[in-house]
Amino acid sequence: MTKILVTGGTGYIGSHTVVELQQAGYEVVIIDNLSNSNINVLDGIEKISGIRPAFVKGDVTDITTLRQLFKDHPGIKGIINFAASKAVNESVQKPLLYYRNNLVSLLNLLELMPEFGVEGIVFSSSCTVYGEPDNNPIDESAPIKPATSPYGNTKQISEEIITDTIYSGAPIKSIILRYFNPVGAHPSAEIGELPLGVPQNLIPYLTQTAAGIRKELTVFGNDYDTPDGSCIRDFIDVVDLAKAHVIAMRRMLDNPKGEKLEIFNLGTGRGLSVLELIESFERATGVKVPHKIGPRREGDIEKIWAEPSKANNVLGWKAEATIDDTMRNAWRWQQKITPKD
Ligand code: UD1
Repeated sequence: MTKILVTGGTGYIGSHTVVELQQAGYEVVIIDNLSNSNINVLDGIEKISGIRPAFVKGDVTDITTLRQLFKDHPGIKGIINFAASKAVNESVQKPLLYYRNNLVSLLNLLELMPEFGVEGIVFSSSCTVYGEPDNNPIDESAPIKPATSPYGNTKQISEEIITDTIYSGAPIKSIILRYFNPVGAHPSAEIGELPLGVPQNLIPYLTQTAAGIRKELTVFGNDYDTPDGSCIRDFIDVVDLAKAHVIAMRRMLDNPKGEKLEIFNLGTGRGLSVLELIESFERATGVKVPHKIGPRREGDIEKIWAEPSKANNVLGWKAEATIDDTMRNAWRWQQKITPKD
């Protein structure tokens, strides 16, 4: 069985990817410092796949821990690197935390890969590297715009670090995946997004509002240059997204003569506005979401959605879930985690 290290594997996208890897026959080792996730996620993973992944509680920024992990789990062939901080606002307040967490962890992995014979790394990047696009849908050849937050900058710098390392002739491969807006949960409702505190992202805020945990959702702006005035995003189902990682891993490891570095957009190719998303949720679940229009949120992009043809044609991956299915899964998960009293 091919062994894969998943950093940040108890997190939102990480946990869904662990399940898909296991179901595709890979053996998974997780490292996570549990700073933004919960150890019980391992139970959820095990319930779905029937396999409890090996787990190391530790920080990828600590190279000693990481070296020990590679010694204790010999034969790791691939890495998927989810371990990173991802709150845009927080990154503005705590830039050094973001640069340390997101960059030092990547440096450590890249440095140790050749030493332990790890052949490839799949890296979680973001459509945030495109900034406000000149045209939509946006493909991988679009220019990278100056980052508007330390978080966004860490994604750009990480892509450059990987590119420079590959071009230096390091004996490794990489696939960089630029996610659009991951949403939803596993259809089993055993795993999903577990935000700590007040959610910053749209879907967890929306589902918490539907569950009565929050009074109402504020739509940040309805005066954008879009058909209904609210921002447009490309909402991609988290299970579809997870599956793309398995395909990317297989592509890297099974084609020794294949490209050393590739970049793919992961989105549906369909833009949906914030107001349309609320409507889909209400339609799919029959549950109303109290909401009001508020001022714009600083730093928001007006509209962005993916041109996913490269992922469709080259990777052989396509987003399949309908937005209604995704919303139903998000709601089922929210109901499961809502305190009952
Ligand atoms: C942001 C980042 C993205 C990052 C993602 C994960 C940017 C431009 N985008 O995505 O790179 O990967 O977070 O943390 O840096 N909204 C509301 N009300 C709310 C919450 C959100 O109206 O209570 C709106 C926002 O204005 C936005 C849309 O919903 O138009 C999506 O917001 P969000 O879920 O936070 O994701 P992004 O900002 O697109």
